[in-house]
Amino acid sequence: MKNIAVLGLGAMGSRLAGNLLDAGYRVNVYNRTARHSLALEAKGAIPAASPREACMQADIVIGMVTDDEASRQLWTHAESGAIHGLRKGTVAVESSTLSPAWVRELSGAIGQRGAHFLDAPVLGSRPQAEAHQLVYLVGGEATALAEAREVLAANSAAIHHVGPAGAGATLKLAANALFGIQVAALGEILAILGGAGMDIAQTVELLGGFPVTSPALKRIASLMATRSFTPNFPIHLVEKDFRYFVAMASKGRGNQSLSSLAHDIYIQAIQEGYGNDDIAGISQSINRTSHSD
Ligand SMILES: NC(=O)c1ccc[n+]([C@@H]2O[C@H](COP(=O)([O-])OP(=O)(O)OC[C@H]3O[C@@H](n4cnc5c(N)ncnc54)[C@H](OP(=O)(O)O)[C@@H]3O)[C@@H](O)[C@H]2O)c1
Repeated sequence: MKNIAVLGLGAMGSRLAGNLLDAGYRVNVYNRTARHSLALEAKGAIPAASPREACMQADIVIGMVTDDEASRQLWTHAESGAIHGLRKGTVAVESSTLSPAWVRELSGAIGQRGAHFLDAPVLGSRPQAEAHQLVYLVGGEATALAEAREVLAANSAAIHHVGPAGAGATLKLAANALFGIQVAALGEILAILGGAGMDIAQTVELLGGFPVTSPALKRIASLMATRSFTPNFPIHLVEKDFRYFVAMASKGRGNQSLSSLAHDIYIQAIQEGYGNDDIAGISQSINRTSHSD
């Protein structure tokens, strides 16, 4: 069986690593804050003192950290970076949600080491990770994906190869922008309906059955109605994804105005102290704004 390294054991990385252990893989782990790996060590994970050390025996390396800056530190730090521990032929899989520009730079650096690179961000959040139901959007060489496929399959319901390195990141940011815009719109619409005197519990129940309401929005609407904001997909990560998406859009020909507007709404929510709440918690910020008008 393949030897795996998982770098970054936050909400998503710890679940990926746990599933791989359950599937019987030998899993080396690294996390910046070492104590966060203790629960996985109790399940058999092998802790490493640095990303470089974690990779030295690995056939497949999976990165799952916050943002471009964390990914840069993880992979390319001059002494401890994972890139220095990669063997020729190892497949490095970056699953964090990152900017396509950084992903392409990282792909080049890893290629120069004789290792292979995939960007493989995921659709789905903590519950989908726990249930092995993530959807991978993969950029990179098909041969590298063939090597890594069985390992990605342990965490996912589907694996889509969408183009060269950076394509996974591009599509992932687009999916999150589409979701984030809809959630912000929903928050505004519920605030307007509340202001118009509608019964919000009944409204949310009915909205959930309308043909225009996606399953994801239906779930978010009921979280907004019950004010349940325990994070699955926290607002500070939503903001980061919009930041990368808007930067990407400004380089292309797309009309970014709606994305920029939504981005501003998430920035404001962070400034108001809601950054660690779930994306559904954007309704708190929108409600504040509509009441202060
Ligand atoms: N949560 C979701 O619903 C979701 C869904 C799909 C994709 N994603 C994406 O998946 C990635 C991880 O998300 P998450 O929810 O697991 O985040 P998280 O719980 O906040 O975990 C972040 C991880 O990154 C590490 N990290 C942060 N800065 C670092 C640095 N400078 N150097 C090394 N490690 C660093 C953290 O280490 P410490 O423990 O030391 O802080 C932690 O292991 C993000 O790119 C996110 O956008 C998230």
